[in-house]
Amino acid sequence: RKRLGVFTSGGDCPGLNTAIRAIVAHATLSYGWEVLGILHATQGLIERKAIPLNAEGLGGMDVLLNMGGTILGAINKGDTLGHGDEVIAGYYELGLDALIAICGDGSLKILHQLAQKGNWNFLAIPKTIDNDVALTDRAIGFDTAVNTVVEALSRITSTAASHDRVFVVEVMGRTAGHLALYSGIAGGADIILIPEIPYSIEGICQHLQKLRDRWGRKFALIVVAEGAKPLEQDANHCHHASIAHYIADKILQHSPIPIELRVSVLGHIQRGGAPMAMDRLLAAGMGNTAVDLAAQGTFGRMVAWQAGQVVTVPIADVVAKCPRHVDPDSFLIRTAQGLGIYVGDKP
Ligand code: F6P
Repeated sequence: RKRLGVFTSGGDCPGLNTAIRAIVAHATLSYGWEVLGILHATQGLIERKAIPLNAEGLGGMDVLLNMGGTILGAINKGDTLGHGDEVIAGYYELGLDALIAICGDGSLKILHQLAQKGNWNFLAIPKTIDNDVALTDRAIGFDTAVNTVVEALSRITSTAASHDRVFVVEVMGRTAGHLALYSGIAGGADIILIPEIPYSIEGICQHLQKLRDRWGRKFALIVVAEGAKPLEQDANHCHHASIAHYIADKILQHSPIPIELRVSVLGHIQRGGAPMAMDRLLAAGMGNTAVDLAAQGTFGRMVAWQAGQVVTVPIADVVAKCPRHVDPDSFLIRTAQGLGIYVGDKP
């Protein structure tokens, strides 16, 4: 019996357990493979810590469909750096014939090198609430995180409107603005600040004034991606608790109109919760396809979602193009502008 290893690496997100479940179901039921769940990714390879995952266990795993996080545990990508040879050896000592990693771009880069050096039969499935893995329109976890942020924005809007307050809401995304852009448009933001388009405090203040002059609106919703950058670099920005606090301070200093302001940093609630249907479908489709690749003996590829379909792409190409940023000329940016949302000062 062939033995397939699976692990989750990098920050967790909703849908990881769904992908694990799909891999176990297809590998064991369709191909008769044995599946080993490696605990805490590369740490588990170093320590040879793995658990058997089987179809009988799937009864129990059905419960996991609704659970966020990962039953296998995760690890930050840097944690096992410098132990490459031990990681590589773990693959062989655990007797793996192939390994599927469910991971983001940071882990993928490291794992790709290890897989090449160690001659592993390696495949990848993209996951991240940042949605910044190259060559895939979607990574597992993104859709659920967008929905979580939209829910938060809706709750914040009602209190903002009741108190005539401006809210600066910070969302995750690392160096990419996908999460802020999607959730900002869907959640009714007045201003969306993303790393790909620099903003100016002047532009933000003018927009807030316009809302007041035109619509008599004193409340407003500013969605800022954690990686957003001002047009003019300001060293002061690192003295604040968060980018949202920095922007809030600057608005208060520069706004020509009196403004009552509050900050809300959403933080890790964006990574938790039950996966939404789209992430479950994505996880099922991607898990299924990765197992088919392993059964065919095709390796070095990542399963991806392009134009509404599951496809596969070379991991080397993905690594070369990561991270994937928001295209400032994309239809979503034009959509935001069409809705009258300030999205920074596009050159
Ligand atoms: O990459 C996912 C992500 O949630 C980013 O959006 C965020 O910057 C980072 O991970 C947070 O990492 P940690 O879990 O180490 O706090």
